[in-house]
Order: sequence, then structure tokens, then C-alpha cells
Amino acid sequence: MKKILVTGGLGFIGSHTVVELQNEGFEVVIIDDLSNSSIEVLDGITSITGAKPIFEKLDLKHESSVIDFFKKHHTISGVIHFAASKAVGESVEKPLLYYENNLNTLIYLLKEVLLLPASNFIFSSSCTVYGQAEEMPITENAPIQPAESPYGNTKQIGEEIIRDTCKVNTNLNAIALRYFNPIGAHSSAKIGELPIGVPQNLVPYITQTAAGLRESLSVFGNDYQTPDGTCIRDYIHVVDLAKAHVVALQRLLEQKNTSNYETFNVGTGVGSSVLEVIKSFEKVSGQSLNYKFAARREGDITSAYAHTEKANKILGWKAKSSLDEAMKSAWDWEKHIRNL
Ligand code: WQD
Repeated sequence: MKKILVTGGLGFIGSHTVVELQNEGFEVVIIDDLSNSSIEVLDGITSITGAKPIFEKLDLKHESSVIDFFKKHHTISGVIHFAASKAVGESVEKPLLYYENNLNTLIYLLKEVLLLPASNFIFSSSCTVYGQAEEMPITENAPIQPAESPYGNTKQIGEEIIRDTCKVNTNLNAIALRYFNPIGAHSSAKIGELPIGVPQNLVPYITQTAAGLRESLSVFGNDYQTPDGTCIRDYIHVVDLAKAHVVALQRLLEQKNTSNYETFNVGTGVGSSVLEVIKSFEKVSGQSLNYKFAARREGDITSAYAHTEKANKILGWKAKSSLDEAMKSAWDWEKHIRNL
């Protein structure tokens, strides 16, 4: 049974990926510092798959801890690296925290991965690297624009660190997955997007408003150059996104990659406006949502949705869930954690 390390494996996307890895028969070791996740997620994963992943609470900012971890787990066949801070607004307020937590940890990890017998590395990147792309849908060849936030910059720099390391280490095989907007939760409603504080992202704010935790949703701007005036994004079910990581890992394990550094967009290819997301929620929940139009949010781009041909044809992966299915899973999760 091949052993796979998942850093940030108790987080939103990480936990769903651990479930899909276990479903495919991998043994999983999770590293998480629990700074933005909770240990209960481990029980959620175990209750879904029946197999408890190995868990090590570890801060990847401490290089000595990273070195000791790999001394103990030297038979790892691949690494999927999620662990990072990811709040755009917070990154503007605390840039050094983001550069330290998102980049130092990547460097310490890569130094150890290079020493493994098989150096296979999947990196959690983001469509944020494209900024406001000129053309829609966005292809992997779209120019990388100057980052709008330190968070986005850490994803751009992270990709460059990996690319440059791959150039001079042919034993390192890496894939960067550029996520669009992950939403929803596992069908069991035993794992999902953990609500810590006031949600910054749209979908948890919608479900918390519907659950009565928030007064109403503020729609940040309805005067954009889009059909209904609200911003467009590519909302992808988190389980589809998790499956893309397993497929990308298997591509490296089976040595099917055509270069030792590849990038793939991971999205549905469908753009949905904020109002369309609200309508989808109202349809699947059967209840109307309390919302109002507000001022634009600083740093928001008008539109972003993925060109998915490369992932479909080369990776052999395609998103399966619709926006309605994803929104229903998000609502089911919210009702589960609020005992509604
Ligand atoms: C989506 C749309 C908002 C909240 C961010 C990160 C990205 C990734 C996903 C980590 C926008 C609107 C939102 C609200 C609203 N994170 N909105 N009212 O900004 O596309 O992407 O999260 O990888 O890197 O940048 O996602 O969900 O915050 O916003 O109207 O209360 O919903 O203006 O148009 P975003 P989001």
C-alpha cells in the first residue's frame, strides 16, 4: 500500500482529498498544525472511510520538525501539499506571516522530498495567479498577472520555487493544480468547510445566513460588466477537486507526466454570477435568502472561469457535479453542523 503525505490534511480541501486517497487504497499520513482546522475532522474522515489516517500535529515552519518527520516516514511515495494560510484580506494585513507560513514551509518540505526514493509532489495553487485574465475561459497559458494580494503572491512564488527546483532536480516530479472556487461538502455531511469566524467566502456566508447565523448576505457590487452586474466565478464541488488531486498523483506515480513540472486548471469551465449562486441556493434549499446589494469589495476581479480541456484530455479528469448539487451539499453540511 503506497503511503502518501497530505499536509493540511484536516483542512477543507485536504480532508476531502484524504477521503478520496483512502478510497483509492492509499495509506495516508496527515500533517496539520491545527491553526485553521480541528482534530474532529480526523473522526469525520475515519467515519466515512473506516480507515483512520496517521496524524502528526506539526508546524512546517520548524525545519527541524520537518527533517525529523521524514526520518520517521522515509517510505512516502508522494506528497500533496495543502498547508498554507489562505485568507486574501488577512494576507494584506499580515504579509510577513503569509510569506513565512506559505513559502518557508514549502522550501523545508521540498528539501526533504528531494531526498525521498520517489519525489512526487502535488502543489495546491490557485486561479488567483491569473488576476483578471483578459480572455475567458482562462487557459493555463494565460499570463500570470501581478498578484493582487500577498496570498496570491505566495501562490505565484510557490509555483516558481517548484518550477526552478524541478529544472535542476530531474528526480523531482511536480504538478501545480490551479483551483477555481471550491464549494460544497462530502455527501455524508461528515466533513465540510469548517466555519472559523465570519466567512470571507460567498457560499459559507450564504449557508450561515440561511441558518440564521448572519442577518443577511451583502452582495459586493452589482455594477460590474456582466449580464446581471454581479461577479462571475467557477464554483467547483470540493469532491470533484479532491478527485483531481488523486488523478494528478497517479499520473506521477505511473510516470505518465510529459515533463517534471506541469500545471493544470481545476474548475468546471462554467462561470456563475453571485446572483446565479443565490438562485441555485434558493432552488435546492426551498427557502429564499435574505440579501442586499453593497459596495464592491477591494481586489475583486469581475470574472474568472476555467478552460478545462488540458485537465480533461491530458489529466483525464472532469468535474462531474453541477452548481445545484454543490450548493445542496453545502446546505446539507450547514444543517448538519447546526443540528437543523
Ligand atoms: C466570490 C464572489 C465576491 C462574499 C477567494 C480567493 C481564492 C480562493 C477562493 C483560496 C466574489 C462575492 C463574497 C460575500 C459577496 N481562496 N461575495 N459577498 O474572492 O473569488 O476567491 O476564495 O484559495 O484564492 O481569492 O471567492 O467566495 O470570496 O467571492 O458578494 O459575503 O462572491 O465579491 O464576487 P473569491 P469569494
